[in-house]
Amino acid sequence: MFIVLLGLPGAGKGTQAAFLKDDLGLPHVTTGDLFRENISKETDLGKQAKEYVESGKLVPNDITIGMLLDRIAQPDCAGGCMIDGFPRNLEQAKALDKALEERGRAINRALYIKVSEDELVRRLSGRWTCPKCAAVYHETSAPPKAARICDNCGSELSQRADDKPDVVRTRLQVNMENMQAIIDYYAAQSNLCKVNGEQDAAAVTTALKGCLED
Ligand code: AP5
Ligand code: MG
Repeated sequence: MFIVLLGLPGAGKGTQAAFLKDDLGLPHVTTGDLFRENISKETDLGKQAKEYVESGKLVPNDITIGMLLDRIAQPDCAGGCMIDGFPRNLEQAKALDKALEERGRAINRALYIKVSEDELVRRLSGRWTCPKCAAVYHETSAPPKAARICDNCGSELSQRADDKPDVVRTRLQVNMENMQAIIDYYAAQSNLCKVNGEQDAAAVTTALKGCLED
């Protein structure tokens, strides 16, 4: 099964993927984490993407599409995967469909987690992430057991560079400009399922699982 997880920055894509991935037995592929990994390892791709990621702009399609298609061609994605953070524009959506079609596969479901702008800002300003295993926390709604220590791997948590208020504004604006076209694209394929992302995280997971049973 190939699933895309759609939602504006802070909607809970990473949070929900972490809940769903064991249940569904699907790897979680996230373009944001792939970029951050390449940036921290100072690869050529990381050097090309750094300026865009840190300023909250979209990385150009010629870099992003190749990276995502290479990732989903890996053996662990042979039976499908959950794709978080891609597509972010129509060119990306069409490139993904074309690559899957060439493998005789297709997107089975596009899950859209809808959250209001005020709540997105609240979530991003209180988010802490694990730089080692990418686990996601929030200082009030999902705190770690020990202050600023990852429950999963014991590493010290940090705040993402792109969660600074001015960068958050750019990210929201850039993503809002493109979101409707992507939603319309998957709705036209009858693949879209929209859930209310402003419930507690467990209720969102239940709603998303409901989408996959339809
Ligand atoms: P990426 O890392 O994907 O960032 P994003 O889309 O801005 O999304 P986030 O990861 O910030 O939010 P999320 O929806 O995963 O929310 P989370 O679960 O963490 O991309 C980073 C950058 O890479 C982009 O800006 C761009 O530069 C580049 N990039 C990536 N993909 C690209 C592409 N396809 N094309 C071009 N460029 C690309 O949750 C957020 C917070 O809320 C957490 O603290 C969490 O604990 C809390 N929370 C979650 N759910 C709930 C809930 N139900 N109730 C209360 N709190 C909650
Ligand atoms: Mg994320």
